[in-house]
Amino acid sequence: MAIISDDDNKQIKIKNEDTTSSQTTYDMSFENNIRPKKFEEYVGQSALKSTLKISIEAAKRRELPLDHILFYGPPGLGKTTLASVIANEMNTNIKITSAPALERPRDIIGLLMSLKAGDILFIDEIHRLNKISEEILYPAMEDFSLDMTTGKSQTLKSIRIPLPKFTLIGATTKAGALSGPLRDRFGIIHRLEFYTDDELTSVIKRTAQILEIDIKEEGAKAIAKRSRGTPRIANRLVKRVRDFAIVKSDGIIDENTANKALDILQIDKFGLDNTDRSLLNLIAEKYNGGPVGIETIATALGEDVKTIEDVYEPYLVQKGFIQRTPRGRKLTPFACKCFNIKNINDLQQTFEF
Ligand SMILES: Nc1ncnc2c1ncn2[C@@H]1O[C@H](COP(=O)(O)OP(=O)(O)OP(=O)(O)O)[C@@H](O)[C@H]1O
Ligand SMILES: [Mg+2]
Repeated sequence: MAIISDDDNKQIKIKNEDTTSSQTTYDMSFENNIRPKKFEEYVGQSALKSTLKISIEAAKRRELPLDHILFYGPPGLGKTTLASVIANEMNTNIKITSAPALERPRDIIGLLMSLKAGDILFIDEIHRLNKISEEILYPAMEDFSLDMTTGKSQTLKSIRIPLPKFTLIGATTKAGALSGPLRDRFGIIHRLEFYTDDELTSVIKRTAQILEIDIKEEGAKAIAKRSRGTPRIANRLVKRVRDFAIVKSDGIIDENTANKALDILQIDKFGLDNTDRSLLNLIAEKYNGGPVGIETIATALGEDVKTIEDVYEPYLVQKGFIQRTPRGRKLTPFACKCFNIKNINDLQQTFEF
């Protein structure tokens, strides 16, 4: 995948272009190496994959582009990856950008006008699109056209420019933050789920194979268990554990090496790191189990609200450790049991352990 910049230096990645770029960093090439390219390499999300395969097959038979698609779910679950898998399966080009890069009307107009029939336009963080850009997108998505005005006050004329038929794939960690009219223009809307330990074990084995890391089944399982249901974290941990195995052992990742390395990285058996544990402790110790507002939690932890909401909270909620209530976040009795929290009077009165 070549990476080019548009005239304002905002990065747009274009697949299948015959260009190379010196901007390609090590991390990007690592990402590209391990990023699945086809459905059969894309682990898990089976319900979503089945639906997409049918839509792709139907679009191919009808010789039309796919309906616009919206993916939502926590970071690192494979939204961007899936968009490029779809482009590969459709055998089309994909242009990848992110809503904050589409600040001015001409950013999005330029991008739309550069599309060719059948292209996929991927907009990450689509909930952050500003109102003007969003309104430019409406007719583009619905009628494949751009509505523009030319001239000044008295001579103001509105013109309609046709666009080639394309597919917009939007991704967001916050489906709720998307405006109704924008959400309604997507024909396919899907939530990505956290991965099971077995699925993450497959992701880890695949990554290890690509990176030529010697890993045992039990070693992969041990890493999977602590990867908080997220392939991006699983891939990151494989690299960290590999470093540990090289320095402290024979370079082979078995169960013992994996567990030792993960203990040193302070990732516990639930996959929680220091920030997760501080968050739970804060609610338990300072707020008597909650409820406590997200702003208070963020300030106390020195994190921003968005990071707590997008990165930490979804997994803690999914694991059943915290509960979102209208009055704030609350520890669950399950969390108290798992972390042996005994001094929360309110919770102990309500629930028996
Ligand atoms: N289903 C999968 N199978 C194998 N690897 C995957 C899968 N999903 C994601 N990955 C790996 O995890 C990494 C993160 O995926 P990706 O960047 O697509 O996540 P994302 O949902 O777009 O995250 P963000 O919300 O932060 O943009 C990728 O490098 C990819 O290799
Ligand atoms: Mg992404």
